Amino acid sequence: MSRLAIFGAGRIGQIHARNAVKLAGVDLVHIVDPIAGPSRDTLAAETGATVSDAESVFADTSLDGVIVASSTDTHADILIRAADAGFPVFCEKPISLDFGRVEAVAQKVSATGVPVMLGFQRRYDASFRAVRDRIASGAAGRLEHVIMQSRDPSPPPASYVKTSGGMFRDTAIHDMDMARFLLEEDVATVYAVGSCLISPEIGKAGDIDTLMITLTTGSGRMAQVTNCRRGPMGYDQRLEALCSDEVLFVENQPQSTVRIVRPEGATTAPPENYFLDRFAQAYRDEMAAFVAMIRTGAAPLATLTDGVEAQRLVEAAIISHQTGAPVQFSPDWRP
Ligand SMILES: NC(=O)c1ccc[n+]([C@@H]2O[C@H](COP(=O)([O-])OP(=O)(O)OC[C@H]3O[C@@H](n4cnc5c(N)ncnc54)[C@H](O)[C@@H]3O)[C@@H](O)[C@H]2O)c1
Repeated sequence: MSRLAIFGAGRIGQIHARNAVKLAGVDLVHIVDPIAGPSRDTLAAETGATVSDAESVFADTSLDGVIVASSTDTHADILIRAADAGFPVFCEKPISLDFGRVEAVAQKVSATGVPVMLGFQRRYDASFRAVRDRIASGAAGRLEHVIMQSRDPSPPPASYVKTSGGMFRDTAIHDMDMARFLLEEDVATVYAVGSCLISPEIGKAGDIDTLMITLTTGSGRMAQVTNCRRGPMGYDQRLEALCSDEVLFVENQPQSTVRIVRPEGATTAPPENYFLDRFAQAYRDEMAAFVAMIRTGAAPLATLTDGVEAQRLVEAAIISHQTGAPVQFSPDWRP
C-alpha cells in the first residue's frame, strides 16, 4: 500500500486527490488545507482521508509520499519540509514566484536525495508525448521550428493574477517547459512581447493578457509561443513542429466527434472546455507516474530541475518584455 498526503484541496488538489485514490494500492491518508469548507471536507469524505495539519503529516513516518497542490506561495516551504522528512514529493508548478528562492529550494531539496516530480502535466499528454517520442526516435528528421498556441477561453479575475504569478510565471511556464522538452538544446536567446488587449482589470493588477515569446537555440532552431487570456473558439491548445522530413501537429481535442452536416455546411463540436478537461487523462497519468516513482524509482518525465529551468526561461522572458530587447541566455544566466 502507498500512503500519501496532499496539501491543498482546491481546484487542482481535488483532481490529484481523486486520481490518486483511483490507483490500485494507494491510500490517501491526510488532506491539509487551512480553509474549512465543502471542497476540503467533501474531498476527505470521498477519498477516505483525514483532515490533518502540516505537523501531523511531517511526523507521520508511515507515509510514502506527499502531493503539494496548495497555493503557489506555500510550495517552497512544504517542499523543503517534506524532503527533510524523507518523503518523495509531487509538487505543482511554480516552485516559488521568487527565482532566488526557486534555486535555493532546489539545491536544498536535491541535497536530501529525495525524488521530486514537477506538475508539468503536458509532458504526460499522449499527443505531446507522441510528438516528442517521434522527434527523439529520428523518424521526423531534425526539429527546426516549434510553434505553440496556449489560449484560455476567457480572462481569470484580476485577484487571481496577483497571487498566481500571472501570464509569465503561472501560464507561460508550461510552454517554456514544453519548448525544452521538445528542443532538448540549450536556449540562446529569449524575446518576449506582451500587451493588455482584453482585460483592463488585469492591466491594473500589473499583468498582461496577450504574450508572444520567441526562443532560439545555440544551433539556431526556434520555438514560438503565444499565450492569451481569450480564446474565441474556447480553450485553444495546439502545437506545430516543423521537422526536416515532416510536420507534426497537435490539434485541439473536440468535446465529441459528432459532425452535423446540413445543406448550408458542416459543424463539429468545440474543443474541450478548459485545461482540466483537456488534460484530464494527463493528470491521471502523471499521478500514476508519481506512484511509480515512489514504488520503483522510475524517473518522472518532469523533475525539480525541469521546474527550475522552465522558470529561468520565464524570468528571461519577463526581462525581455520589460526592456523590449532579447535576452542573451545561457546555462549561467540568472535574472
Ligand atoms: N499543472 C497544472 O495544470 C495546474 C493547474 C492548476 C493549478 N496548478 C497549480 O496548483 C496550485 C494550486 O492551484 P489551484 O488552482 O488548485 O488553487 P486553489 O486556490 O483552487 O487551491 C489552493 C488551495 O490551497 C490551500 N492552501 C493555502 N495554503 C495552504 C497550506 N499552507 N497548506 C495546505 N493548503 C493550503 C487553499 O486553501 C486552497 O484550497 C498553484 O500553484 C497552481 O499554479 C497547476
